[in-house]
Amino acid sequence: MKELPKVFISEPINPKGMEMLEGKVRVVIAPDTRKETARALIKDADAAILRATTIFDSDVIRDGARLKAIVRTGIGVDNVDLQCAGERGIYVCNTPGTNDETVAEHAVAMILAFAKQIMIMDHAVRTQNWKERFSASQVDIKNKKIGIIGYGNIGFATARFCVSLGMRVTAYDPFVIKAGEGVEMTDDLEALFKESDFVSLHCPSTPLTQKLINRKYLQLMKPGAYLINTSRGDLIDEDDLVHALKEKRIAGAALDVFSEEPLPAGSPLLEFSNIILSPHVAGSTKESNERIAVAAAQAVLDTLAGKTPRHICNMEYLSLVPKSAFFA
Ligand SMILES: NC(=O)c1ccc[n+]([C@@H]2O[C@H](COP(=O)([O-])OP(=O)(O)OC[C@H]3O[C@@H](n4cnc5c(N)ncnc54)[C@H](O)[C@@H]3O)[C@@H](O)[C@H]2O)c1
Repeated sequence: MKELPKVFISEPINPKGMEMLEGKVRVVIAPDTRKETARALIKDADAAILRATTIFDSDVIRDGARLKAIVRTGIGVDNVDLQCAGERGIYVCNTPGTNDETVAEHAVAMILAFAKQIMIMDHAVRTQNWKERFSASQVDIKNKKIGIIGYGNIGFATARFCVSLGMRVTAYDPFVIKAGEGVEMTDDLEALFKESDFVSLHCPSTPLTQKLINRKYLQLMKPGAYLINTSRGDLIDEDDLVHALKEKRIAGAALDVFSEEPLPAGSPLLEFSNIILSPHVAGSTKESNERIAVAAAQAVLDTLAGKTPRHICNMEYLSLVPKSAFFA
């Protein structure tokens, strides 16, 4: 009997996606996210489903001699060497449209948590500090200014939610010209930092955006302003952020993503009470996890059936390989 194709999965996905693969492929779920583990298990895999933590660099990809598709659950493909995969005729896909509003909701939750001082108020009640109710440290969200950096799917969804809350929304994105309703586009990043009460990051990690948010821009922010990051940790120079927080240059930061994940136990970011932290979960809810797993499983099944999967992210490198070579 012909052996079923093998699919490497870096971390468990929602059962709906597993059901789709059942009986059609052999699934191997990695016991951990280490590179050595990926290298050992990828050797005879025909496809891979990858979450954010496991790195598929050229070493791992070259070990996957039979690989035809690497599918990222979610959006960011910065943990995959797109060129190496493309040159070997391997599709790299993601699953856009499955968690845009999910991430936007998380960003808005962080904004509201700061505006209403939810963490501080919770702590006050737990520590019998009832007089915190007289601090009047909470603010209205209506008419507050938010600057959105990266006006793609998630930036757009965040902007829409913020407009509906009565916020004044400005977006910066050098690759987008058209603003949505109630949103003003700007090409002046410095002015955006100077004027915003909240700055929310929604662009991918690229050589152009890494450490984009550094001392220069943090110094421009109002002392009462907050920085929100649900995109990628390396967009922020974390040393500069720690400095800005120590110097009370800004009022706080909410971070779902970090330059190193998991965030190391000794990180200075853990020392500030005016930082809200979450473990890279902005895109993960019960509902979105199901949508993501279904889309990822479909991309794998399409590829293994000889079809072109949806949402290919390394098209420019795939063109270097003749199509006929893909299933040789
Ligand atoms: N925390 C999470 O769980 C989670 C989940 C999903 C996505 N993300 C992150 O969110 C990012 C955005 O996702 P998306 O679906 O909106 O992607 P998208 O591709 O739809 O939008 C990204 C936007 O960023 C813009 N951009 C690129 N370079 C820029 C720059 N230098 N300055 C300003 N804008 C720039 C692009 O033009 C694009 O419009 C992803 O790349 C991913 O890293 C995080």
